[in-house]
Amino acid sequence: MGKLTVPTIGARKVGNGADPLVMVTAYDAPGARIASEAGADMILVGDSVAMVVLGYDDTLQVTIDDMVHHVAAVARAKPESLIVGDMPWMSFHVSPEDTVRNAAKLVKAGAQAVKIEGGRKRLPMIERLISAEIPVMGHIGLTPQSVHAMGGFKVQGKKAEAARKLAQAAKSLAHAGCFAIVLEGVPVKVAQMVTEAVDVPTIGIGAGPHCDGQVLVYHDILGIEDRIMPKFVRRYADVKGISVDAMSAFADDVRSGAFPNDGESYHLNDAQAEALGLYGSID
Ligand code: KIV
Repeated sequence: MGKLTVPTIGARKVGNGADPLVMVTAYDAPGARIASEAGADMILVGDSVAMVVLGYDDTLQVTIDDMVHHVAAVARAKPESLIVGDMPWMSFHVSPEDTVRNAAKLVKAGAQAVKIEGGRKRLPMIERLISAEIPVMGHIGLTPQSVHAMGGFKVQGKKAEAARKLAQAAKSLAHAGCFAIVLEGVPVKVAQMVTEAVDVPTIGIGAGPHCDGQVLVYHDILGIEDRIMPKFVRRYADVKGISVDAMSAFADDVRSGAFPNDGESYHLNDAQAEALGLYGSID
């Protein structure tokens, strides 16, 4: 099918007959190859790397340099999926100039677009990015970088007024030029209302079936993360389980002497072994 571009994605509304968009996170080259071969339209190098790869309790700990490192690893795999680099906390809060400088680092590392959490108060940064020719994906609803301000990872837009504000925020982001908007952790009907309110695609996570696309975290889809399972996650494999089984089999073979066998070892030829006086004693 070939790699989708930002304008192609920006026009993909299910309401206009388009297929839903598929976005998955990935943080390294093997993950990017898997996502690309699986046909993902977009790879989000998410700041969720903080939690699922680096072991932090929230996403606030990663820096722009961490994100550059992971975007570059994904880009080296040359995936067929469009690469979106997540702007981490404090990389777009200080000033529009600082935001453009940080986003440019992700683009130079191989991202074709960046994602920014937050609604209307992010508009000055988003406008500046777009005028610097850096495509922006918005992200509203449950924005994990606001975990402390929200008082936890809580579903957003549950009251009518909050839902209306989300729709207004989505319209402002689309008007500012965002080519797509992630809608995270909002009730189904609110996600539907927001999706119908904008002419750019919404990509849902914990936002029900009426968005223009869906995104899930790599480690959740594959069952690598098995400690927490939010309601909106569907696991398609038990990679943690089969990995533990495989590692245990290796450990058993090492302990029993079954690994490595002759075919898994290098050998001297007879003449060299004899020259070392080893012939017939050891391989
Ligand atoms: O960082 C991330 O993985 C995300 C997705 C959950 C949308 O922002």
